[in-house]
Amino acid sequence: MPENTGLFISFEGGEGAGKSTQIKILAETLRERGFEVIVTREPGGSPGAEAVRHVLLSGAAEPFGVRMEAMLFAAARNDHVEEVIRPALGKGAVVLCDRFLDSSRVYQGTTGNLEPEFIETLQRIAIDGTMPDLTLIFDIPAAAGLARARKRADDGATPDRFEKEELETHEKRREAYLDIALNEPRRCRTVNADQPQDKVTADVLSLVEPLLEKIKARTDVTQ
Ligand SMILES: Nc1ncnc2c1ncn2[C@@H]1O[C@H](COP(=O)(O)OP(=O)(O)OP(=O)(O)O)[C@@H](O)[C@H]1O
Ligand SMILES: [Mg+2]
Repeated sequence: MPENTGLFISFEGGEGAGKSTQIKILAETLRERGFEVIVTREPGGSPGAEAVRHVLLSGAAEPFGVRMEAMLFAAARNDHVEEVIRPALGKGAVVLCDRFLDSSRVYQGTTGNLEPEFIETLQRIAIDGTMPDLTLIFDIPAAAGLARARKRADDGATPDRFEKEELETHEKRREAYLDIALNEPRRCRTVNADQPQDKVTADVLSLVEPLLEKIKARTDVTQ
């Protein structure tokens, strides 16, 4: 396993919270500062995992039950970690990942009613020790996030299998994310996503900046 000299940041939260928007902005900022940045997403991010992404988001796996879906997510995550994330961290890159293991805990665990032990076992196998250094949890009332996502759908994107669910389900997910943030305060930071875009961008950067110092220090040591 290559030594991890990079920085791994995952972006989490409900639909329309602004994760993809902010990842793009942060990636540009960090590249301007001279960091090597890999932007990736789940489900997907590697050729094997992208093949599974389609099966999951189209709803093709839905009739076979949430356990099957959870295992497919885990299979995709394992491929993504092995093929993309770990090698990038090994060469000192900043990896920005749009959703990661907390999405499984929330979507398949809390709102899929799968036992937490089952989800945690799957995650252990999927990530094989590669945890994010920082997880940004984008918090927004579910209705506001969905309204943003629907506006985006008006621009031509069709809602996926998960966007179509009830508002109540989306609110449960919001609570589940906040619980994760509470239980894992060293790794997780909550971002108030219900603000103008530039304010969210500033908040994200202020949370990431302290970690950049660490990666710089690590890189200096190894050079
Ligand atoms: N702070 C903001 N205020 C208002 N609109 C925003 C803000 N951030 C993003 N948007 C808009 O809201 C929509 C959803 O944003 P985005 O796609 O980044 O969310 P997401 O968290 O990636 O959603 P998903 O989980 O569905 O992929 C986009 O049309 C985006 O331009
Ligand atoms: Mg997105």
